[in-house]
Amino acid sequence: MSTFFKTAETFIPGEMTLPQKYYTSPEVFAREKERIFDRYWFCVGHHSRIANPGEYFLQDILGENLIILRDRQGEIRAFFNVCRHRGTRVCEQPEGRFKNSIQCDYHAWTYALDGKLIGAPFMKDVPGFRFEDFPLRAAHVRLWAGFIFVNTNLQSEPLPFDELFAPLQGKLDRWNAPTLKVMHRERYELASNWKYIFQNFNECYHCPTIHPMLNQFTDYTSGANDLIEGPFLGGYLELTQQSMTVTGRICALPLGDLTGGDDKRAYYYSLLPNLLLNIHPDYIMYHLIFPHDPGHSTIISEWMFHPEAASRPGFNPQDAIDFWHQTNLQDWHVCELSQRGVESSAYTPGWYTPRETLLAAFDRDYLKTMGG
Ligand code: FES
Ligand SMILES: [Fe+2]
Repeated sequence: MSTFFKTAETFIPGEMTLPQKYYTSPEVFAREKERIFDRYWFCVGHHSRIANPGEYFLQDILGENLIILRDRQGEIRAFFNVCRHRGTRVCEQPEGRFKNSIQCDYHAWTYALDGKLIGAPFMKDVPGFRFEDFPLRAAHVRLWAGFIFVNTNLQSEPLPFDELFAPLQGKLDRWNAPTLKVMHRERYELASNWKYIFQNFNECYHCPTIHPMLNQFTDYTSGANDLIEGPFLGGYLELTQQSMTVTGRICALPLGDLTGGDDKRAYYYSLLPNLLLNIHPDYIMYHLIFPHDPGHSTIISEWMFHPEAASRPGFNPQDAIDFWHQTNLQDWHVCELSQRGVESSAYTPGWYTPRETLLAAFDRDYLKTMGG
């Protein structure tokens, strides 16, 4: 057991950062696709983004483009944006609301919101053609705490969702996560491997140097981790102000009846392969990471508030947005510097410190999943 922490994780002196190839090699990236991206579940956002039937948004995931929508029955679905006629992208607008159907503009083949082909000019009486054989192809979809997770693998089954997410059951109940509302989104393009974003997220060793503002609002040596091994990692830090905002003050209605100290804590959880959660008493901000190749990733960051926050006096979301936007830019910059360093012939793995036990845990789980 570590003597450095009040927490349960083990610090093993001499554990090293990953070798260069894990950040630079196209072969490693191809193996990550096979072993991680095709088996785990990508978060594409929170269901409040598509609150009403017909609402949708498009999401790129590793070369695929998905239509994420809410159907007429209120179910969330994810379809490949590929027409079953000649394969054309069916939908171009990045977000919006379908009335009752989805129509491909090329030759007007038309699909219901549950994906069924319901119109194909001149095909009704063609011998051998059966409408039921050509629905939009669906990706797997599951929900956890109001977040939408998809898997785009058409060849084999993803990891069983309920089993995988068992350690997270009830984790966000205190903040009423399914009822919250996304109110702001930022998109960032990074010249960085996706794992640097995870690793940077999982330590606050860098907080005093990289984040002078954030460092005033939490004690980076405080707190404890409750998820310390496996694909999901994290814990909390004690807040030294009311919230993580530019002013340090609460900027919206509390997300729940937070007791047991949760009104004075910021929780951080990372979920393989792409969700990073920042939980505060008055808002949740999360990052969705979409890797493109070993050296490039897109991050979408979203800010969620209490559904009634906007109608209450004192609502000041910009206080939270500005805080994390500035902090994010500081983080993304060091992720890009890490990428530039690891691409050098001078890079060799370095020692993890006692404040980076979650990174060592991330690497152990990653290497196990990659098969060594
Ligand atoms: S390609 Fe979509 S209708 Fe022809
Ligand atoms: Fe940071």
